[in-house]
Amino acid sequence: MQATARAQPNIALIKYWGKRDRTLNLPAVGSISITLADLYTEMNVKFDSKLKDDVLTVNGEIDQQMLPRISRCLSAVAGEGRDPARVDSHCNFPVAAGLASSASAFAALVVAASAAAGQHRSTAELASLAGLESGSAARSLYGGFAELENNGDSVAVETLLDSSDWPLRIVIAVTSAGPKPVSSGEAMEISRKTSPFYGRWVDDQTHDLDVARAAIRERDFGKLAAIAEHNCLKMHSVMWASRPPIVYWNAATLECLQTVRELRTQGVGVFFTIDAGPQVKAICLAHDESRVCDALQSTSGVGRVIVSELGAGAKLTGCV
Ligand code: PMV
Repeated sequence: MQATARAQPNIALIKYWGKRDRTLNLPAVGSISITLADLYTEMNVKFDSKLKDDVLTVNGEIDQQMLPRISRCLSAVAGEGRDPARVDSHCNFPVAAGLASSASAFAALVVAASAAAGQHRSTAELASLAGLESGSAARSLYGGFAELENNGDSVAVETLLDSSDWPLRIVIAVTSAGPKPVSSGEAMEISRKTSPFYGRWVDDQTHDLDVARAAIRERDFGKLAAIAEHNCLKMHSVMWASRPPIVYWNAATLECLQTVRELRTQGVGVFFTIDAGPQVKAICLAHDESRVCDALQSTSGVGRVIVSELGAGAKLTGCV
């Protein structure tokens, strides 16, 4: 049997940074994210006893680098005794560049692999399986505003609001399309072991989650903007104070922050967030989308601007 699934990346407004259990890949803190609509990864999985080993292609090219994580995830879904699989992945945005391509990849993979293995798993089970490989991938099983809770020995995600309940827009300023210098998994461990701010980051997260959750439920844009920017800058401060320091930003990243702040002084409803990469994600009210787009596009060092609405969680799109 073969199956195809599509999943969208998600962008954390309250970030996950640090693991409390590395074997189970459990996050040290909870997180809240928005799932995008217009960026996606599509995965086709076919188990085939005639194959010698798993084969992975990404946008038509053989990919050996990502293969071990894909194979591990396939075995977590279908069991160690499974047949080898051919996995074809198609992604309509830059991969491994801080645009959450691993979140959409593993969310799509668990849905496709489970269907190809003839299973009927719940969304919660699939989220836990995706989370074993990429903590943030668990959130891409869910649409709209999703919260990942940090308790128990598996992840639990709940939808706080559907995408149609608060149709915000995301404008992504791509400042460099190259792969990141250090993976988020590695960088989190460096932060946990060496950053003097790490303990405080973990301790403060409950407060940030409470404020953001309330802001989302009340659809209070200003309140959400303030806590999301604070949480983002706090996460990057943890990284910058690590040894060796982890700095994902470039000059254009800072230029974009200035652009967003300037827009806000002009009355535009917008705030920024930045993940493990140099891209800046501006979240704005729907009627401000074109102003935010134009301003970021004309910011020095910005190559490309990608716009997305909020979307739904991972979906099975074909099974034969
Ligand atoms: O799920 P990972 O290992 O790609 O880590 C994601 C980390 C951040 O994107 C920086 C924050 C987050 O919550 O998505």
